[in-house]
Amino acid sequence: MHSFIPQNLALSAICLFAPALHAADLPIADFEGDNYAPWTVTGDAFGTAPARGPLPGQMNVEDFKGKGLVNSFHKGDGSTGSLTSPEFRVERPFISFLIGGGMDNEKLALQLWVDGKAVRSATGPNDRPGGTEALAQASWDVAEFAGKTATLRIIDGATGGWGHLNVDHILQTEVKPKGPPPLISNAERSLTATARYLHLPIKNGAPKRLVTLLVDGKAEVRNDIELADGPPDWWAPMEVREWKGKFLTLRVDRMPEDSTALSSISQSDSLKDAENLYREPLRGQFHFSPRRGWNNDPNGMAFYNGEYHLFFQHNPYGWGWGNMHWGHAVSKDMVHWEELGDKLLPDAMGPMFSGSAVVDWHNTSGFGREGKPPLVLIYTAAGNPTVQGIAFSTDGRTFTKYDGNPVLKQITGGNRDPKVIWHEPTKKWVMVLYVEWEKTHTIHFFTSPNLRDWTLASITEGDAPGKPYLYECPDFFELPVDGDGSRKKWVLLGANSDYAVGTFDGIRFKPEQTKLPGHRGRGFYAPQTFSDIPEKDGRRIQIGWFQTETKGMPFNQSMTVPLELKLVSTPDGPRMTFTPVKELEALRTRTNSFEAMTLEPGGKNPLDALNAELIELRAEIEPGDASEIVFNIRDAMVIYEPKKQELSVNGHRAPAPLREGKLRLTIYCDRTGLEVFASDGLCYLPMPFNTKPDNKRLLLETRGGAARLTSLQVHELRSTWNPK
Ligand code: FRU
Repeated sequence: MHSFIPQNLALSAICLFAPALHAADLPIADFEGDNYAPWTVTGDAFGTAPARGPLPGQMNVEDFKGKGLVNSFHKGDGSTGSLTSPEFRVERPFISFLIGGGMDNEKLALQLWVDGKAVRSATGPNDRPGGTEALAQASWDVAEFAGKTATLRIIDGATGGWGHLNVDHILQTEVKPKGPPPLISNAERSLTATARYLHLPIKNGAPKRLVTLLVDGKAEVRNDIELADGPPDWWAPMEVREWKGKFLTLRVDRMPEDSTALSSISQSDSLKDAENLYREPLRGQFHFSPRRGWNNDPNGMAFYNGEYHLFFQHNPYGWGWGNMHWGHAVSKDMVHWEELGDKLLPDAMGPMFSGSAVVDWHNTSGFGREGKPPLVLIYTAAGNPTVQGIAFSTDGRTFTKYDGNPVLKQITGGNRDPKVIWHEPTKKWVMVLYVEWEKTHTIHFFTSPNLRDWTLASITEGDAPGKPYLYECPDFFELPVDGDGSRKKWVLLGANSDYAVGTFDGIRFKPEQTKLPGHRGRGFYAPQTFSDIPEKDGRRIQIGWFQTETKGMPFNQSMTVPLELKLVSTPDGPRMTFTPVKELEALRTRTNSFEAMTLEPGGKNPLDALNAELIELRAEIEPGDASEIVFNIRDAMVIYEPKKQELSVNGHRAPAPLREGKLRLTIYCDRTGLEVFASDGLCYLPMPFNTKPDNKRLLLETRGGAARLTSLQVHELRSTWNPK
């Protein structure tokens, strides 16, 4: 009797703390040691000891327990091998473990072996590029093997992409561990298309799911989408108007069974949250950005039928890079843009990477109709192989991919970003293409009579890989020096805008000066210039990808303002200048002009009375004895140091020579960034910067001595967006 009491007491004490009483877990392996013993290893995929996280060249490996785990990425994906546990007795109804890495049920697996057979098997979640290295909880019901002798084997016989497995924390347990909800394969929702858009729920950072749209049973659109299984961060519109009345099926490759992603999809003719479109707090008000999703490079820039066309690298279904489409916008003045939807969609040759556009005035391609010269897009299809294709339009609205694509086969992997121009003296098309060739960045020059057949003409070398000069997104154009049409030079540049100046005979570019610095700021990349601006206008106008930071918005990134490029003589040779295009002047709503004045250190702030959100400021200053001339534009610091002839914007410095002894400065300030122009355009300093909505203060002061302000205008600007 008496002997039961302490036992009961002990029992009830335990019950106070545990919901139910279970036999303790039996650890099998946690891979914390500095070798695998007592497991046995074969091959080289597993190394000789557990990994301590990611291995060289691997993405971050997360969610394992303790310090070590099994990670078969030793020597990369190409290695193979196995790990086998000692024998153990099955003594609990479940075996629980963490698993991640590649998906291949045959070749990449954790297996339970009983009586000489693999009776259970688990693999990782990833079967295509992207994805995650994180481990997730999983388990097997092994009750039927109770009392049997078993071993575990971890095998890696996979050698391609995602050819490795991550495993950790294996134990026997009585309670089925709570893992993520089971994933169902090929979850579907069908509906009849009645409107322009389907609205897909997006959760930034969620696992990417392969989402296929089938139209009357045929797969038409495929994208990797961070689908929201619950409440979304934003809704991505998928344009389906061409299939109105048809039977649509959305298929998701894998989805938690309790996901609301498919059931939450609705259709309508306008965007969700359209009432806030272009009014979002971090929407640049005079910089182009896509309505929804991510943008990077400007593409296909051309003037055609009285409109400027701006295509752009677009992920319509994600806040980050991916699913490369060519988005499309048009404008009459390069300032007010209307976005028209995606024109080049990923296809069997791959996602649509960067490229250019030309108007084929003489219909050399044969794509023109009824006297209408076609607008021809030249793009990269970045599959494997990576090839160049073309598409055409005679109305600037609908585009057809050429059925003879590709027009240029792969030269080396990753060759990309064709920019095409018409070379009048030789009456040929010229394409510059980025190619990594014999371990060097190169620009390959091709020529063509008709945009379909291309012949290699010559090669210009840039830096070694890892360095920026002549790396991706080339542009190539001719500019008069000092506006003198009889003195022209060719300019070749790569994505970071560093350039060479030289001559070109239709075959070969002969650089005279190389590695000249382009822009002098941050967050500017992959610029392109418009093709086919009418001769009577004659300007060469560039737009760059402006890497503005737009956290929390249903879109991400933007473009710079249009920049007029010129070549001007300097003692060191011709140099490129950047000037904001005059069309931007149409945005001025109110101009505050100031009389010439002397600025004394500690003196009154001439801009004190101003309160402005969107700003164009133009100043001319003789620096006198000042050591610093300081502009504070809504908390962005623009400081000029006359002695060093250096400009800094938020601490980022650039040379900015005085011109005729004067500092001439133009500052554009939008919600998400500044573009600063100094030294008559020799210094262009773009700078992403998020202003605070309630700080509209401006300040101008000098330090260290007096300076003479000879002219100052502060223009307040209106938004370019006029949402319908
Ligand atoms: C430059 C770039 C290009 C490529 C594109 C893909 O930003 O890497 O070389 O074509 O982006 O989106």
